[in-house]
Amino acid sequence: MPPIFSSQRFLLCLFIAYLLIEQHAARPVLYAALVDFTTWIDVIVGFVKQLPSIITENLTPDVIANILDAYVSSKDNEDIRLNITQLLLKYAHSVEEHRVRTEDGYILGLFHIPRNGSVVFLMHGMLGSSDDWVTAGSETGLAYLLSEAGYDVWLGNARGNKHSRRHIRLTPASEQFWDFTWDEIGRLDLPIMIDYVLKESNATQLKYIGHSQGTTTFFVMCSERPEYNEKVSLMVALSPVAWMSHVQSPLVQLVAPSGNLLYTVMQMFGHGEFLPENGVLSLMSRKICGQSTLAEILCNNVVFLICGFDLPQLNIINLPVIFSHTPSGAATKQLLHYGQGVLSGEFRQYDWGETGNFDHYGTREPPNYPVHKITAPVALFYSDADWLASPIDVQRLKENLGNVVDYYKVPFKGFNHVDFVWAKDFKELIFRRIMTLLRKY
Ligand SMILES: *[C@@H]1O[C@H](CO)[C@@H](O)[C@H](O)[C@H]1NC(C)=O
Ligand SMILES: *[C@@H]1O[C@H](CO)[C@@H](O)[C@H](O)[C@H]1NC(C)=O
Ligand SMILES: *[C@@H]1O[C@H](CO)[C@@H](O)[C@H](O)[C@H]1NC(C)=O
Repeated sequence: MPPIFSSQRFLLCLFIAYLLIEQHAARPVLYAALVDFTTWIDVIVGFVKQLPSIITENLTPDVIANILDAYVSSKDNEDIRLNITQLLLKYAHSVEEHRVRTEDGYILGLFHIPRNGSVVFLMHGMLGSSDDWVTAGSETGLAYLLSEAGYDVWLGNARGNKHSRRHIRLTPASEQFWDFTWDEIGRLDLPIMIDYVLKESNATQLKYIGHSQGTTTFFVMCSERPEYNEKVSLMVALSPVAWMSHVQSPLVQLVAPSGNLLYTVMQMFGHGEFLPENGVLSLMSRKICGQSTLAEILCNNVVFLICGFDLPQLNIINLPVIFSHTPSGAATKQLLHYGQGVLSGEFRQYDWGETGNFDHYGTREPPNYPVHKITAPVALFYSDADWLASPIDVQRLKENLGNVVDYYKVPFKGFNHVDFVWAKDFKELIFRRIMTLLRKY
């Protein structure tokens, strides 16, 4: 990063102070922020620099006007108000709701679209939910496409998202409820859901398709609990995230160097839940993206702020449906754990700091995940423009996995992280390839 002029530095200091004061932050937080400024500033400058390029790229006033018209005209789509059960009844004609309890007391919601084909289990990304597989609409939503093809589809939900916000003792209002990261999702949530699905469907194996954190958690599960490798006949990783040294996302970079500060700030506003709507992030996006209607549409959703977007693949007409179902809830610690990976360059367990690491792991540094234990067949789908799963990091993952059966770069320039779920051309670019794999494994 080039050196920053001191006047810029000063303005940014004011900017952050303003954010904190507007949020009625307590004085200790402001003080911590001031101490930590030098790291913050570089990252925020990087953040500010990147944003104009997303908002203005290839955008003539005509194009913007068309986008806005499409968006506004689609705002009375009934699907905006339908929840996932109602959507599945409307378009897939059947749905069952199931619940499982994890060994540490979380109650997770599962959705099942019964068919007589083999079992496919779908797992969403961070801040997402089972809804992600249907909000693309009946023409391109992966849950619908698989069901039409005869597969018996199950949709998982990680602890903390809107379908999994119950616990035998805790409530989401307590910080303790949110004391988890994707490590626990991979170690505890996935295994219990997979065992349940296999038992219900009287099967010994299933096919697993994950997006983003839905792949991270799979890699955690299969390395920490290798007996689960045998229960998966194929894993399709859409935008796989494990090593993160080359992440582009400004928001993920933002939490990396100053994780402790952000954790303090977030805890004040969100009790450990990552709640951008009321927090610093929402304000930040408004100040940085500006107030234009287009910026308002895209920057108001933290999923797009974290993941970026790709205008040619964005289905504007469907955007209001996506926005009404996402984000779905996550713990601040999930984001921090990713931030740690950006900083350390390792794919490893949560970093509690030196003392905490000794308590938890008996070592100074957190242990790496034993990725060599992953033996299930894995197909890696990635793209050049992905803000979170950069091709270099995916390449590193590929070299560490023992059984990569497909390594597919999406042949579309600008294809970004959320396009692996919501792209206009999902059928041609992603689904066709998935079907070939599903038939084979
Ligand atoms: C969706 O809404 C219907 C009707 O209000 C309700 O019966 C159902 O439980 C809801 N499903 C979910 C997953 O919230
Ligand atoms: C699946 O169900 C369809 C109709 O419901 C039936 O025609 C077909 O034979 C079934 N396939 C298997 C493998 O049971
Ligand atoms: C489960 O599968 C086994 C072996 O294919 C079969 O014998 C059994 O009847 C099945 N049970 C149910 C409940 O479908």
